[in-house]
Amino acid sequence: MPNPSLFAGLISLVAIARRAELWPNPEPCLGNCTYIHDPSVIQRSDGTWFRISTNGNIAIATAPALVGPWEYKGAMLPQGSKIDVVNEQEIWAPDVFFNDGLFYAYYSVSQIGLQTSDIGVATSETAEPGNWTDHGSVGLPTKTDKSNYNRIDPNFFIECPTCDPYFQFGSAWNDIYQTTLKKDFLSWSGSAPVQKAYNSTLPPSQDYASITEGSFMFWWNIDGKKYYYLFFSSGTCCASKDALAAPGDEYKIMVCRSESVNGTFVDMEGKDCLTENGGTLVLGSHGDVYAPGGQGVVVDPDNKGKIALYYHYVNKTIGYEYEDFQFGYNYIDFASGWPIVVAS
Ligand SMILES: *[C@@H]1O[C@H](CO)[C@@H](O)[C@H](O)[C@H]1NC(C)=O
Ligand SMILES: *[C@@H]1O[C@H](CO)[C@@H](O)[C@H](O)[C@H]1NC(C)=O
Ligand SMILES: *[C@@H]1O[C@H](CO)[C@@H](O)[C@H](O)[C@H]1NC(C)=O
Ligand SMILES: *[C@@H]1O[C@H](CO)[C@@H](O)[C@H](O)[C@H]1NC(C)=O
Ligand SMILES: *[C@@H]1O[C@H](CO)[C@@H](O)[C@H](O)[C@H]1NC(C)=O
Repeated sequence: MPNPSLFAGLISLVAIARRAELWPNPEPCLGNCTYIHDPSVIQRSDGTWFRISTNGNIAIATAPALVGPWEYKGAMLPQGSKIDVVNEQEIWAPDVFFNDGLFYAYYSVSQIGLQTSDIGVATSETAEPGNWTDHGSVGLPTKTDKSNYNRIDPNFFIECPTCDPYFQFGSAWNDIYQTTLKKDFLSWSGSAPVQKAYNSTLPPSQDYASITEGSFMFWWNIDGKKYYYLFFSSGTCCASKDALAAPGDEYKIMVCRSESVNGTFVDMEGKDCLTENGGTLVLGSHGDVYAPGGQGVVVDPDNKGKIALYYHYVNKTIGYEYEDFQFGYNYIDFASGWPIVVAS
């Protein structure tokens, strides 16, 4: 007699694996939906949506709804960052949150392949271009031999105004780390970063381990039980059309989950996401959509409070160049306990 709960688990795994074949297209996107990398999306209290993304010292676009029409408004840091990491540095992968009248945008200062990057923060009352104050580095400690991380891809997470402000970051080398900030949300708490997710797999076409980056934490109540979801992007983010990663090694959106904000994170099969290369695929390439990633999750009050998974992707028909990257989103459903991309 098979163990009934194991059997039910297998059935739901099969059901979810089958769904992957049925990933819907991204929801429509109106207005300017291109030149998008690593978007972070937030709705202001007046209903205006802000989409803040990598490009030109952090691009700010606004829209009356998640669907658009999106309009580019200007750079978040027109003069660049106070942080000085290297000549010809770039500012990447912003992560925006709002608390008590102030927007906080964390950002990375780096260059392709650089491990001495840093993470900074800017604040604004309005989120409009020209209205941001740069505070420079949040002061995360530099890497050590034991904590071989790169200070990029920030993600701020707080569950309630009096809760601890958690901070995820990292990419390549030893992948995803977590620490906390002080209650000012502007500076590191002093608590040593702890590694939370790592993929040791060596893809056949490269001599370094597969990259795990762009983490994003989200919590949700499933049947009265609270779970913490660690979304991340896995694989090769960007490549020219004639040098693409082997199928399956290109960017994709994965998730792990825990009953505690700081782990242990496991995937749907129970595999540890730090020590066993665990991670459950949420959205990968399908149809015209190639290499989705750089994702975040936001509740959409304009659409019955549905939860949107937003990301960048390559449209194979349009092109694989940096400027071709598209903004996309789909709604996700947590009813099974795991985020499933659904047609709206
Ligand atoms: C479209 O939006 C992106 C990102 O928001 C921006 O970098 C780009 O300059 C915009 N293009 C136009 C034509 O406004
Ligand atoms: C941002 O706008 C607010 C309201 O208009 C203004 O009070 C504040 O001084 C501005 N801050 C910056 C840094 O421009
Ligand atoms: C999570 O954080 C709590 C207190 O903040 C600590 O006691 C616990 O050891 C941490 N657990 C892990 C897995 O890091
Ligand atoms: C780990 O990397 C391999 C090789 O790219 C990939 O097939 C696998 O999906 C990755 N796993 C996770 C959890 O990201
Ligand atoms: C990709 O681009 C083509 C050509 O513009 C368009 O017809 C198609 O709807 C797009 N698909 C997606 C998923 O963006």
